[in-house]
Amino acid sequence: MTNNNSLSRRSILKGSLGLAAGATAVIAANNSIAQELTLPKALSGDSLSNASNETYWNQIANLYQLSPKFINLENGFYGVLPKPVLAEYQRQISTLNESSSFYLRQNYAADADKIRQQIAALGGVSPDEIALTRGATEALQNLVSNYTKLKAGDSVLYSDLDYDSTQANIDYLKDVRGIKVVKINIPEPATYDSILDTYRNALAANPSIKLVLLTHINHKTGLAIPVPEIAKLAKMKGIDVLVDAAHSWGHLDFKIPDLNADFAAFNLHKWIGAPLGVGFLYIRKDRLADIHPHLVSETAGSDDIRSRVHTGTTNTANVLTIPAALNFHQQIGAANKAARLRYLRDYWVTRAKKEVKGIQILTPDDPRLYGSITSFRLGGKSSKADNQELAKRLREQYNIFTVARGGPASGDSVRVTPAIFTRPKDLDRLVAALKEIAQA
Ligand SMILES: Cc1ncc(COP(=O)(O)O)c(C=O)c1O
Repeated sequence: MTNNNSLSRRSILKGSLGLAAGATAVIAANNSIAQELTLPKALSGDSLSNASNETYWNQIANLYQLSPKFINLENGFYGVLPKPVLAEYQRQISTLNESSSFYLRQNYAADADKIRQQIAALGGVSPDEIALTRGATEALQNLVSNYTKLKAGDSVLYSDLDYDSTQANIDYLKDVRGIKVVKINIPEPATYDSILDTYRNALAANPSIKLVLLTHINHKTGLAIPVPEIAKLAKMKGIDVLVDAAHSWGHLDFKIPDLNADFAAFNLHKWIGAPLGVGFLYIRKDRLADIHPHLVSETAGSDDIRSRVHTGTTNTANVLTIPAALNFHQQIGAANKAARLRYLRDYWVTRAKKEVKGIQILTPDDPRLYGSITSFRLGGKSSKADNQELAKRLREQYNIFTVARGGPASGDSVRVTPAIFTRPKDLDRLVAALKEIAQA
C-alpha cells in the first residue's frame, strides 16, 4: 500500500483530467477543480483512532457528489463514484468514443492486462489467477456452472444467507446434473462459534458434500462469516470452497489468499468504487483445470484463466477506470476504510439499541462478524410486507433511503448500509426516525 500521497494525488488528478505530462499548468490555472478533486493528506496512525477523525472523513465526503434529495443508507447495491473517479470515467467514455474500435483493436487487450496486474497486486495473488468479469454474478455463475468435480449424487452446501441467484444456480445443477443440495440456516443471533459449529455439523452429517458456498458478507443481514476458519474445516475433509466476496473486498481489510479458498468471486463496483459493470473471478493457479473453460473460449487457451470468462463486446470505459478507483481506495487505505465503516455501523446501532423501543439488530456486536451492512427489525415484525412498509416510511416520510431484504430463515428485515461518505448526523436522523416510528 503506497504512502506516497502527493505522487498518487498527482496521478489521480492527471488521470482524472486527462492531462499528458507537461500539462500540469492547466491544473494550476484551474485551482478550484483541482481542489475539488484532491484527496486529503493520507492518515497515519492506527485505523481504529482514524475511524473517528471527522475532519478527515468530512474531506472525503466532500469528494462525493450526492443527491440532496435523500440520505443514502443503501450503499450495498453499488458504490457512488467519488468525483475524481467519476471524472476519469467521463474522460474514458469520451476518449473511447473518439478512438472507437481503433483503440479497442490496437491497445485495449494490453491495457486490460495491465489492469488485471494491478488488481492482482492489490489482492496479493498472481495476475494469471484472476479474470475480469462484469461483476460478481458473472464470476459466480462461471465458477459454479463450470466446476468439474461434481458428479451425480455429490452435494453442494449453501446457507439461507447466501446470495439468492447463486442458490438458484446451484439448484440448477441439481436439476440438470443430479447434484444434491444441502441447505443450512445460520443461527440468529449468530456468534463466531455458533457459525463454525453450524458448518462443522453440516459437514459431519453430510459426507456427500464436495463443494461449499460461503458468502463472506451477505447482502441480507450483513453478517461477515469467518471464511478462513470454515474453509479450513472443509479442506480438512477434502471439500472445496467457493467464496462469494461480492461485498467484502474493499470493505473489509484482507488479501485474497487470506480467504483460504481456491475459488472466489469479487465485485469492483461495490466497495472499491469503480463504475458499474466490473468484477473478477479468482482461481488458485494449481486449480485452473477444475474449472472448465466457459462455453466458448476461442480467444484464450484452456491454460489461460481468461478462457473461464467470455463476455463478448461490452463496456470498456468502466474497465479502464478501475486504476483510478484502486488508487482512490489505496489512498484512503483498506484498513482505514474498514474501520470507518464499522465505526459508522456501531454509531447508529449503539444509539438505536438505547433509544429505539423493540429494535432487533441482526448482526452481533462482535467486530469480527460485520462491516458496514446491518439489518434490523422493529417490534419483532419479520414479514415482507411489514419491512417493505418500514423502508417506504423511512423513504417517504423521513427522506432516508434503506432497503427491505428477505431470505433469512428467520424472516425479513430492513438493511442499513452507510458508506465512507456517510456523516454521523445522517445516522442521528435515522435513529431519530426509528425512535419516532417505534413509539407510534
Ligand atoms: C452477496 C452478493 N453476491 C453476489 C452479488 C452479485 O453482484 P453483482 O450483481 O454486482 O454482480 C451481490 C449483489 O448485490 C451480492 O450482494
